[in-house]
Amino acid sequence: MSHRLIPLSGTKEEIYKQLLPQLRCLVEDEDSHIANLANITAALKSTLGFFWVGFYLVDGPWLVLGPFQGEPACTRIAYGKGVCGKAWELSSALVVDDVDKFEGHIACSAKSRSEIVVPVIKNNKVIAVIDVDSEQLAAFDDVDLHYLTEIARLVAGLPGL
Ligand code: SME
Repeated sequence: MSHRLIPLSGTKEEIYKQLLPQLRCLVEDEDSHIANLANITAALKSTLGFFWVGFYLVDGPWLVLGPFQGEPACTRIAYGKGVCGKAWELSSALVVDDVDKFEGHIACSAKSRSEIVVPVIKNNKVIAVIDVDSEQLAAFDDVDLHYLTEIARLVAGLPGL
Protein backbone atom coordinates (compact mmCIF):
# COMPACT_ATOMS: atom_id res chain seq x y z
CA MET A 1 0.00 0.00 0.00
CA SER A 2 1.20 3.47 -0.84
CA HIS A 3 2.14 5.70 2.06
CA ARG A 4 0.67 8.70 0.24
CA LEU A 5 -2.61 10.19 1.38
CA ILE A 6 -5.30 11.20 -1.07
CA PRO A 7 -5.78 14.97 -0.57
CA LEU A 8 -8.65 15.63 1.83
CA SER A 9 -11.06 18.52 2.02
CA GLY A 10 -14.29 19.62 3.66
CA THR A 11 -15.37 20.02 7.23
CA LYS A 12 -13.41 18.50 10.08
CA GLU A 13 -15.85 15.58 10.16
CA GLU A 14 -15.51 15.01 6.42
CA ILE A 15 -11.73 15.03 6.73
CA TYR A 16 -11.77 12.49 9.58
CA LYS A 17 -14.21 10.33 7.57
CA GLN A 18 -11.96 10.30 4.50
CA LEU A 19 -8.84 9.85 6.63
CA LEU A 20 -9.89 6.79 8.62
CA PRO A 21 -9.89 4.23 5.76
CA GLN A 22 -6.61 5.70 4.55
CA LEU A 23 -5.07 5.22 8.00
CA ARG A 24 -6.19 1.57 7.89
CA CYS A 25 -4.43 1.14 4.53
CA LEU A 26 -1.37 2.99 5.78
CA VAL A 27 -0.75 0.50 8.60
CA GLU A 28 -2.03 -2.77 7.13
CA ASP A 29 1.23 -4.13 5.71
CA GLU A 30 3.64 -2.87 8.36
CA ASP A 31 4.57 -4.76 11.55
CA SER A 32 6.55 -1.99 13.25
CA HIS A 33 4.33 -0.15 15.70
CA ILE A 34 6.83 2.74 15.80
CA ALA A 35 6.52 3.20 12.04
CA ASN A 36 2.73 2.89 12.15
CA LEU A 37 2.25 5.31 15.06
CA ALA A 38 4.65 7.78 13.44
CA ASN A 39 2.70 7.72 10.18
CA ILE A 40 -0.64 8.06 12.00
CA THR A 41 0.57 11.20 13.81
CA ALA A 42 1.96 12.64 10.56
CA ALA A 43 -1.33 11.95 8.75
CA LEU A 44 -3.35 13.58 11.55
CA LYS A 45 -1.09 16.64 11.75
CA SER A 46 -0.93 17.19 7.99
CA THR A 47 -4.66 16.75 7.35
CA LEU A 48 -6.22 18.30 10.45
CA GLY A 49 -3.51 20.86 11.22
CA PHE A 50 -3.16 19.97 14.87
CA PHE A 51 -0.68 22.00 16.92
CA TRP A 52 0.59 18.83 18.62
CA VAL A 53 -0.48 15.22 18.19
CA GLY A 54 1.23 12.19 19.60
CA PHE A 55 1.18 8.94 21.50
CA TYR A 56 2.31 8.20 25.02
CA LEU A 57 2.91 4.49 25.61
CA VAL A 58 2.35 2.74 28.94
CA ASP A 59 5.64 1.46 30.34
CA GLY A 60 5.33 0.22 33.95
CA PRO A 61 4.16 3.17 36.09
CA TRP A 62 4.80 5.67 33.30
CA LEU A 63 3.42 6.98 30.08
CA VAL A 64 6.50 7.42 27.91
CA LEU A 65 6.53 9.72 24.90
CA GLY A 66 6.14 7.85 21.63
CA PRO A 67 5.83 9.01 18.02
CA PHE A 68 4.47 12.54 17.75
CA GLN A 69 4.32 15.62 15.54
CA GLY A 70 4.86 19.09 16.96
CA GLU A 71 7.17 20.73 19.45
CA PRO A 72 9.37 18.64 21.78
CA ALA A 73 7.30 17.39 24.73
CA CYS A 74 7.60 15.95 28.25
CA THR A 75 8.98 12.44 28.00
CA ARG A 76 7.38 10.80 31.05
CA ILE A 77 4.02 11.23 32.74
CA ALA A 78 3.14 9.29 35.91
CA TYR A 79 -0.09 7.33 36.36
CA GLY A 80 -2.88 9.73 37.33
CA LYS A 81 -0.85 12.86 36.53
CA GLY A 82 -1.78 15.50 33.98
CA VAL A 83 -4.57 15.05 31.48
CA CYS A 84 -2.82 12.03 29.96
CA GLY A 85 -2.22 10.22 33.25
CA LYS A 86 -5.79 10.98 34.34
CA ALA A 87 -7.22 9.50 31.12
CA TRP A 88 -5.07 6.41 31.80
CA GLU A 89 -6.30 6.18 35.41
CA LEU A 90 -9.94 6.64 34.42
CA SER A 91 -9.58 4.49 31.30
CA SER A 92 -11.66 7.13 29.63
CA ALA A 93 -11.24 9.98 27.16
CA LEU A 94 -10.90 13.54 28.47
CA VAL A 95 -11.77 16.71 26.57
CA VAL A 96 -10.32 19.82 28.23
CA ASP A 97 -11.63 23.14 26.88
CA ASP A 98 -9.19 25.24 28.91
CA VAL A 99 -6.04 23.55 30.16
CA ASP A 100 -5.51 26.29 32.77
CA LYS A 101 -8.68 25.12 34.48
CA PHE A 102 -7.61 21.47 34.62
CA GLU A 103 -5.95 20.84 37.97
CA GLY A 104 -2.60 19.15 37.47
CA HIS A 105 -2.39 19.85 33.74
CA ILE A 106 1.20 19.36 32.55
CA ALA A 107 2.22 22.24 30.29
CA CYS A 108 4.68 20.89 27.74
CA SER A 109 4.13 24.07 25.74
CA ALA A 110 2.83 27.42 26.99
CA LYS A 111 0.99 27.74 23.66
CA SER A 112 -1.32 24.81 24.32
CA ARG A 113 -4.81 26.03 25.40
CA SER A 114 -7.08 22.99 24.98
CA GLU A 115 -6.52 19.28 24.77
CA ILE A 116 -8.11 15.90 24.08
CA VAL A 117 -6.71 12.60 25.35
CA VAL A 118 -8.12 9.25 24.22
CA PRO A 119 -6.93 5.97 25.75
CA VAL A 120 -5.91 3.03 23.60
CA ILE A 121 -7.43 -0.01 25.28
CA LYS A 122 -6.38 -3.60 24.60
CA ASN A 123 -7.71 -6.59 26.58
CA ASN A 124 -9.38 -4.14 28.99
CA LYS A 125 -6.09 -2.40 29.78
CA VAL A 126 -4.87 1.03 28.73
CA ILE A 127 -1.70 0.46 26.69
CA ALA A 128 -1.25 4.00 25.33
CA VAL A 129 -3.01 7.33 24.92
CA ILE A 130 -3.47 9.61 21.93
CA ASP A 131 -2.94 13.23 22.96
CA VAL A 132 -3.88 16.23 20.80
CA ASP A 133 -3.22 19.85 21.80
CA SER A 134 -4.54 23.06 20.30
CA GLU A 135 -3.46 26.68 20.52
CA GLN A 136 -7.17 27.60 20.62
CA LEU A 137 -9.53 27.26 23.57
CA ALA A 138 -12.25 24.59 23.28
CA ALA A 139 -10.91 23.28 19.98
CA PHE A 140 -12.13 19.69 20.49
CA ASP A 141 -15.68 18.36 20.38
CA ASP A 142 -17.69 15.16 19.94
CA VAL A 143 -16.46 14.80 16.36
CA ASP A 144 -12.84 14.62 17.54
CA LEU A 145 -13.85 12.30 20.35
CA HIS A 146 -15.68 9.96 17.97
CA TYR A 147 -12.96 9.70 15.33
CA LEU A 148 -9.99 9.68 17.69
CA THR A 149 -11.73 6.82 19.53
CA GLU A 150 -11.97 4.97 16.19
CA ILE A 151 -8.26 5.63 15.63
CA ALA A 152 -7.50 4.36 19.16
CA ARG A 153 -9.36 1.13 18.24
CA LEU A 154 -7.27 0.81 15.11
CA VAL A 155 -4.09 1.35 17.14
CA ALA A 156 -5.14 -1.27 19.74
CA GLY A 157 -5.16 -3.86 16.95
CA LEU A 158 -1.68 -3.04 15.62
CA PRO A 159 1.03 -5.69 15.86
CA GLY A 160 3.72 -5.04 18.46
CA LEU A 161 1.51 -3.13 20.89
N1 SME B 1 -0.65 18.29 28.65
C1 SME B 1 -0.41 16.89 28.85
C2 SME B 1 1.05 16.56 28.74
C3 SME B 1 1.49 16.15 27.39
S1 SME B 1 1.68 17.43 26.33
O1 SME B 1 0.43 18.18 26.18
C4 SME B 1 2.24 16.98 24.85
C5 SME B 1 -0.96 16.46 30.19
O2 SME B 1 -1.40 17.29 30.98
O3 SME B 1 -0.96 15.25 30.44
